[in-house]
Amino acid sequence: MTDYRLVETREELIREVRDYLSDFTGGGSAQVLLLADEYTQRVLPEFPADLVVAQGEACKNLESAERIWRELAKRSFTRDDLLLAIGGGSVSDLCGFAAANYKRGCRVAYIPTTLLALVDASIGGKCAINLSLEGAEKRTVKNIIGTFYDPTVVFGCTELATAPESLFTEGMGEVIKYCCLFDPHPMATLEQSGDLTKLLRRCIDYKRAIVEQDPYDRSVRQYLNLGHTVAHALEGQALAGDKPIPHGTAVAAGLVIEGYFSYVLQGFSQHHLLQLGELVRERIPTVRYACSDYDSLWAHARQDKKNSPLRETVTCTLLKDFGTPVYGNRVDRKLWDEGLDFYKDLMKV
Ligand SMILES: NC(=O)c1ccc[n+]([C@@H]2O[C@H](COP(=O)([O-])OP(=O)(O)OC[C@H]3O[C@@H](n4cnc5c(N)ncnc54)[C@H](O)[C@@H]3O)[C@@H](O)[C@H]2O)c1
Repeated sequence: MTDYRLVETREELIREVRDYLSDFTGGGSAQVLLLADEYTQRVLPEFPADLVVAQGEACKNLESAERIWRELAKRSFTRDDLLLAIGGGSVSDLCGFAAANYKRGCRVAYIPTTLLALVDASIGGKCAINLSLEGAEKRTVKNIIGTFYDPTVVFGCTELATAPESLFTEGMGEVIKYCCLFDPHPMATLEQSGDLTKLLRRCIDYKRAIVEQDPYDRSVRQYLNLGHTVAHALEGQALAGDKPIPHGTAVAAGLVIEGYFSYVLQGFSQHHLLQLGELVRERIPTVRYACSDYDSLWAHARQDKKNSPLRETVTCTLLKDFGTPVYGNRVDRKLWDEGLDFYKDLMKV
């Protein structure tokens, strides 16, 4: 079971990590390798990196994993030594994957430096790298090689993870999603979220509780996919057009569109649907698409790893009400188009 720590300030974080490392390496009996990416090595200069990998998504590949394995082997790392990753979800995904496979599993710990990594990527044990295909199908497939492997400890810090403004929306889309899942009154919670650490703690605890019940995504963990069937289609389409959109922006649009599916299939109230739309319109940038994109968005949704191009429907987690999710709903093409129309009209795009 992961020891998940969350503090508010950088100072508290530095103290917490220093104390932990000094206990861990006490008497010189254990080793620690610190890893960061080209940017995140500068985020916590108090803990200089021993190994630096490419920035963000570019580090999630076998070459980076091999570099880590070589470094660990060179230092004669044992399974009880610790790989400590400082960075966003890309760095934690890479290090979780590398740790899981080094001597069939050595210890790994994360210091998440983005909001998305704090509330999502560092929890639940999923870790994966991307794979580049060759030949005619030359493209990179995300998260296709991976496993489930829990970190020993996660050192979360609100101040550190919410500092990068450009990455705030990425995480906020997920925070809004969590609030819709666990809170019967998410609007009030989000509007009065003066104590951000308390809100983030609720999100983290919710994901941890769900993952504990269903570690391998067979049942309730699918709740966490709320907004994501549509989000992955929007992201896939944007990427294919070489204009990637932030994950959190896509998730927020996905929440509204799947909110519409919820209204039709699960009796989610129209009042709540409009409240959710209003919140997303106020807080998150709008995703733009045209009616001529509907075919391709549908194709992207059916290609997603959680769906099948052989089926005439896509699977979504929907809401009966705020705080009451239902997984395994089938959405057909007609409803898909209606949901896309609904978002377009609401956002006036
Ligand atoms: N394992 C999971 O359950 C899970 C869940 C969600 C997302 N993910 C993965 O997480 C990755 C995305 O992670 P992310 O959004 O945290 O970003 P990231 O790790 O991809 O980093 C994005 C960019 O932000 C920079 N950065 C990181 N911290 C920063 C900081 N404090 N200040 C300024 N810049 C900073 C990085 O150097 C990089 O250039 C994706 O690969 C996704 O697949 C995994």
